[in-house]
Amino acid sequence: MSRKNIAAGNWKMNKNYEEGLALARSLSEKSVASDALMILSTPFIHLKAVGDIIKGQPHMRLAAQNCHQKAAGAYTGETSLDMLKSVGVTHVILGHSERREYFHESNELLAEKVNAVLDSGLTPIFCCGERLDIREANTHVAYVANQIKESLFHLSTADFGKIIIAYEPIWAIGTGVTASPAQAQEMHREIRQMISEKYDGETADNCSILYGGSVKPANAIELFGQPDVDGGLVGGASLKADDFCAIYDAFGKTNV
Ligand code: PGA
Repeated sequence: MSRKNIAAGNWKMNKNYEEGLALARSLSEKSVASDALMILSTPFIHLKAVGDIIKGQPHMRLAAQNCHQKAAGAYTGETSLDMLKSVGVTHVILGHSERREYFHESNELLAEKVNAVLDSGLTPIFCCGERLDIREANTHVAYVANQIKESLFHLSTADFGKIIIAYEPIWAIGTGVTASPAQAQEMHREIRQMISEKYDGETADNCSILYGGSVKPANAIELFGQPDVDGGLVGGASLKADDFCAIYDAFGKTNV
């Protein structure tokens, strides 16, 4: 099993330039490197400078929160993968629920973006997750399975092996309501099972599956201690260096 533990911070549309650089400097100074990765997913305009700050830190990586699927051209306001690569980005978050909801990103469009990210040699962090009404109707497993199937299951085994998945139940994002460790584990196990059925057991075992939705220092140890939870995609708590370092440090305390 070669999957990685990962704490990925999704800054969303927060922090002006100076504030963002200060946060990156503090994370770079305060975090104590381990085998786990700490990924900073910053707004586009911070990427280059944050990349320079974290350069040389063996555990830190730089992520974009989105990208355009086309290589270049007349797409006003968009950012290409070549641009992202040229400033040191290694990972790209795709299909965050806010992009799906406010920017109408469909499973089909996300399949194109996944292909583009893989073609560029970067690593997609593919988000999936259900709304509250879907969970209440008890159709959440089928819903998430469909998101994964329509955006990822066209990939070859080799390409699927490069994907990181983030399961983020929408009802737990930014609400302070966290899925219980048991709820997270249940869905992560289902996701791993789907991968195993579509590809094989080894591919499923090697896939890092992150949980997202109100992860904080107080719940990270228990969440990350679940056998199929390989880390977190963290919004609010990634905006404070001490909190995000504590979440990163949780990997050393889980005994798994
Ligand atoms: P949250 O956001 O940690 O603030 O709930 C998580 C996310 O949207 O990635």
